[in-house]
Amino acid sequence: MLSDVREGLTAQARHLPSKYFYDERGSQLFDEITRLPEYYPTRAERALLQDRAATIVSITHPATLIELGAGSSDKTRLLLDQILKSRPAEVTYIPVDVSADFLTASVAQLRDEYPSLTTSPVVADFSAQFALPTHPLPALHAFLGSTIGNFTPAAAVELVTSVRKRMAIGDFFLLGIDLRKDPIQIERAYNDSRGVTAQFNRNILNVINDTLGANFDTSMFDHNAVYDTEKHRIEMRLISRIQQTVSIREVGDIVFAPGDAILTELSYKYDRAIVIDLLSASGLQLREWFTDDAESFALALASR
Ligand code: AVJ
Repeated sequence: MLSDVREGLTAQARHLPSKYFYDERGSQLFDEITRLPEYYPTRAERALLQDRAATIVSITHPATLIELGAGSSDKTRLLLDQILKSRPAEVTYIPVDVSADFLTASVAQLRDEYPSLTTSPVVADFSAQFALPTHPLPALHAFLGSTIGNFTPAAAVELVTSVRKRMAIGDFFLLGIDLRKDPIQIERAYNDSRGVTAQFNRNILNVINDTLGANFDTSMFDHNAVYDTEKHRIEMRLISRIQQTVSIREVGDIVFAPGDAILTELSYKYDRAIVIDLLSASGLQLREWFTDDAESFALALASR
């Protein structure tokens, strides 16, 4: 984190990796975001999984479910229920998440709910290289929540390629993707009327304060989220309200003029053609494409 923050805040165009939003408070705030009326992706994806989990399981008949960035494994239950229905014995669930605390808590909960399930959590940053424990085949590798949107096109290919390398013949990859739509609707999802997204955005500065001994005054930064219709992405920034100097232990002083920005998140929106490009550049092919009626969100099912 120190080297990421040093590199990002001393660069000409200041930026921070969005993975640092998610300490305990950040995860809570994101949870709150998913329940906001303006934030459509989580509801759309849950409805899609409710509709399609049985079909997905009948196509993939997995013995193992591997989930990248598992978080609270909330929507995952929709898949697990169907998998356990189709194959009641010897189902393995491998949630992969950076937050060990979060993972431990959600695994304890799952073991309670699904006593017949074998749960093998992996604490890892899924954007880096990691190894899977031995598991029964075939496996369904799931990357839900449109988190792929946080990656630049090149980084997305790198990530999906690393998934493909962990896939055996007969395995499937399930990707949740937020789709291109009315820019007004997208911008509203990142500028909610209650200001929860603004708090979530500012929380990245709290994380840096806590972890690296910095002295950001979060109230001196404005939330800003704009949809770029050419790049098809939300760009989320924190904008300095005033002239200020922030000290970060081991990095030094960072001077902000009024209006100076830190880019904190990109959230790319896809369409079917771009997903096909991403998959094929990563050595995978699209097998099924499921969307909700409003075509606001998609689940792409792919294989090698
Ligand atoms: C969890 C990465 C999918 O990009 O929509 C929500 C995070 N940022 N509101 C997204 C987020 C601002 C979210 N992802």
